[in-house]
Amino acid sequence: MPIPVILDCDPGHDDVFAIWLAAGHPEIDLRAITTVGGNGRLSHTTYNARVVAGLAGVTKVPIAAGAPGPLMRALSPAEWIHGGNALGGPELPVPEVEADPRPAIELIRDTLDAAAEDVTIVATGPLTNIAMFARIYPDRLSKVREIVWMGGSTGRGNVTPYAEFNAWCDPEAAAIVLESGPPFTMIGLNVTHQALVTREVIARIGAVGTRAAAFGVELLSFYNSTYETDQGMPEAPLHDPIAVALVAEPTLVTTVRTRVDVELDGTETAGATSVDLLGKLKREPNARVATGLDVPRFWELLEQAMRSLA
Ligand code: RIB
Ligand code: CA
Repeated sequence: MPIPVILDCDPGHDDVFAIWLAAGHPEIDLRAITTVGGNGRLSHTTYNARVVAGLAGVTKVPIAAGAPGPLMRALSPAEWIHGGNALGGPELPVPEVEADPRPAIELIRDTLDAAAEDVTIVATGPLTNIAMFARIYPDRLSKVREIVWMGGSTGRGNVTPYAEFNAWCDPEAAAIVLESGPPFTMIGLNVTHQALVTREVIARIGAVGTRAAAFGVELLSFYNSTYETDQGMPEAPLHDPIAVALVAEPTLVTTVRTRVDVELDGTETAGATSVDLLGKLKREPNARVATGLDVPRFWELLEQAMRSLA
């Protein structure tokens, strides 16, 4: 039975492939897409979600805009990676999909209320929408099967020495969601940096031969170029679809149950995810943390999902 999923995202180049994987994988029933300020301003991330959903023929999934920025901090869009419109590279076609008029947290609420079974929330951006939902609709959290987040890291960061972008953008939201109740899985840079966009990967995506695939190749080429400039990595990690892949095929990602805390106050470390893999702090474990990835199987999954889309 396909797993009902709500995808909260900030497209963003890698978020696009999370949308396409969620829409194209047979084990996923994509019920809603919500957008958040993160990689770009909310107007951009929402427009981009509409564009890429339409390109792939994903026209029946509601897309609703959420929080324009973090709960307590100013938004710092990751233009150094994603460009000024959060989807640099290709010319963006006019979106074929309209945005849902509801705010994201109301679409999440209504999607959970309408579901006969519990729903998985996959989040691939800052956790602002999910934190707001947890605070405003705590009574609905019992309908959330689990929250799977691409964010954080068991090691170094990518936007500061110790903080990964999604956690750094809204650390207060991450801390709230970590303690909100539903089972929480974190897929951090320590794993996502294994899924690198090589020439072979780009060729495989291009060979799918669809409109979305051709658009995706242009996205990946831009994404690799900015990753090389900003991070010294000529082959960029395709972070976000791994969170969807874990839901579709749980054996794809190795996880350990451990304790995660988010640094909120550090002058140099705000947004760092403190993952106590050795249990030194003797605190109650509160998350599953990804430690490994079946990289070849991940790319197979993504290619197959894209082949199933328009
Ligand atoms: O650090 C990687 C994460 O930040 C990804 O979700 C990417 O889209 C950016 O949002
Ligand atoms: Ca993202």
